[in-house]
Amino acid sequence: MSVMTTFPPISSKIPKMLHGADYNPEQWLEYPEVFEEDIRLMKLANCNVMSVGIFSWAMLEPEEGTFDFKWLDHVLDTFAENGLFAFLATPSGARPAWMSQKYPEVLRVEKNRVRNLHGVRHNHCYTSPVYRDKIESINTKLAERYGNHPAVIGWHISNEYGGDCHCTYCQNAFREWLQKKYASLKELNHAWWTTFWSHTITDWSQVESPAPHGENFVHGMNLDWKRFVTDQTLDFLNHEVNALKKHSLDLPVTTNFMEAYEGLNYWKFKESVDVVSWDAYPTWHDERDESRLAAWFSLLHDLKRSIKNGKPFMLMESTPSATNWQEVSKLKKPGMHALSSIQAVAHGSDTVQYFQWRKSRGSSEKLHGAVVDHYGSENTRVFQEVSQLGGVLQKLDEVVGTSVQPETAILFDWENRWAINDAQGPRNSGMHYEEQIRRHYKPLWDEGIPVDIIDMECDLSRYKLIIAPMLYMLRAGAGEKIEAFVEAGGIFVTTYWSGIVNEHDLCFLGGFPGPLRKTLGIWSEEIDALYDHEKNQIRLTDDNSLQLTGMYEVHELCELIHLEGAEAIAYYEHDFYQGRPALTENHFGSGTAYYAASRNQEPFYTDFLLSIIRKHKIKRTIETELPYGVTAQKRCDGRNEFIFLMNFTNQSQTLQLEKEMYIDLLDEKPVPESVVLPSYGYKILKHSQK
Ligand code: GLA
Ligand code: ZN
Repeated sequence: MSVMTTFPPISSKIPKMLHGADYNPEQWLEYPEVFEEDIRLMKLANCNVMSVGIFSWAMLEPEEGTFDFKWLDHVLDTFAENGLFAFLATPSGARPAWMSQKYPEVLRVEKNRVRNLHGVRHNHCYTSPVYRDKIESINTKLAERYGNHPAVIGWHISNEYGGDCHCTYCQNAFREWLQKKYASLKELNHAWWTTFWSHTITDWSQVESPAPHGENFVHGMNLDWKRFVTDQTLDFLNHEVNALKKHSLDLPVTTNFMEAYEGLNYWKFKESVDVVSWDAYPTWHDERDESRLAAWFSLLHDLKRSIKNGKPFMLMESTPSATNWQEVSKLKKPGMHALSSIQAVAHGSDTVQYFQWRKSRGSSEKLHGAVVDHYGSENTRVFQEVSQLGGVLQKLDEVVGTSVQPETAILFDWENRWAINDAQGPRNSGMHYEEQIRRHYKPLWDEGIPVDIIDMECDLSRYKLIIAPMLYMLRAGAGEKIEAFVEAGGIFVTTYWSGIVNEHDLCFLGGFPGPLRKTLGIWSEEIDALYDHEKNQIRLTDDNSLQLTGMYEVHELCELIHLEGAEAIAYYEHDFYQGRPALTENHFGSGTAYYAASRNQEPFYTDFLLSIIRKHKIKRTIETELPYGVTAQKRCDGRNEFIFLMNFTNQSQTLQLEKEMYIDLLDEKPVPESVVLPSYGYKILKHSQK
């Protein structure tokens, strides 16, 4: 049975699944009937939480130092009277016009060194002392006034932090950051390998952030700038949080992340937020095979759960119907809204929240989907689906706070990603790191195998199987950690283009894959990049330990390796490296390390990973055959398991289950041996330890 994995609810004021949306009543102050109607509709939609105050700065502080909280008092008091709760936002995502006009330094300077004009949002400098003062003042006021308000259950910090600023303040902060990191210019010059092209820095003041018309080819510097941007954003977040925590110590804080946004290393935020939250906007119904996208969003959910070691997260935003910013803003077909929301819950979300509650009347998001349309009442398809889903979420009290402890992890490291995407060669037409992560995840999703998504700094010892595609960069100690993991019995899978550089993006000397050479039992001498139209093949050896047979197609990248203790289980078929090893297995200590030297095409990853899973007895969520497009995920509390069966196909699918093993959590009836999942349907099964 599962290990105990429960966490307290996000707020003890409401130990239930949270359901709600971003809500901007300040847009409707001149239409007082709208707010009253909203309260009625929120209850009808089975909503219990709203995110308020995001982008409300101009209404909260209409003039410098003049505050108006009357409207927000009314909103929150009315929520409290009606049993509704709120995540209260800090307004730093957008600033009032008076501020930009009086203090231009709050506006962002782009990498071309031109300061932006006032406008849009997320257009501020994280370093500007004025901006920091102003946010401290408004956050303090919010915390003093609402920190103990009965309706407020948490802080929504800013909105989707992102981007960078290249102003003088930020340049100076970058230089200070570097001085702290590198005690001397000598160390900096070594780490950045600046002798190359005469880039040696002889005074700290010569350092400038990357610029299209200036320095942008020093990979170590680009990497440090990205690290700095994450740290500076985090420092700004901490500054926001400090102002709040002085007056509301107990309220949890979160900030909404964006999918797999490359600009910020979200792992660094794990200590600063009490709960992880994120915004998910899958483009459903684009591909015929919906399961590819479904698996990608499962992965993104797993990532958010993994950041705080399995702690349930929040689906902070999703659209109840369509967005208005995707290339094509498609409606969700009947069932998909509930399925995609339940998918978040299945992977550990304790909330289903939307952008947005009500469509705004004007400006850029007036046509973005909302629970309440311009039409204004509950008689819409979208409202009815939302309300029904709310009814379902009300039945999931037992699931709140439960989680999962997977035996398998995929290593998807942000810094590695930055380094791979910036390196020049071997394929500037695309190294496709993210795509390789997806390729390795999908077969596990198809089989319903729970997975954590981890980075290089995570504890590896709790997993049985770690899959780490393209581990190009190995930060200090990472190679040794992986070695210890395998030595102690772990199963490790990696690929070509691993162990190439250290944390400064300096190549390992003495043979790739650097610190992993011993663990993998190979030496990689060269890598061949294939043109898009080229192919190769690999042939499996007879009677190999994974029982794989035949041939697989290879494209894009082929590494030329030597065996140094590992056994080859496949060889290249063509080109001048025909007959050289392409897939290896190395027994090391009590564990095994696999190396795929070539980039292969499906069904390789499915066959290869499933064979490893069978051989090493990795547990699936449920021991039954899952039809293609159907997955199973679980959450557990140590005594009960909640199994989520989800059908991402547009046809009904049937599964065979063990007799009298499960009850249906929604109708509390025993689940028959043969379970039918309608098109885009799901079921939540409960299994209790006797
Ligand atoms: C983001 C933002 C929201 C809204 C939505 C629209 O996630 O956080 O304010 O703009 O996109 O999909
Ligand atoms: Zn700046």
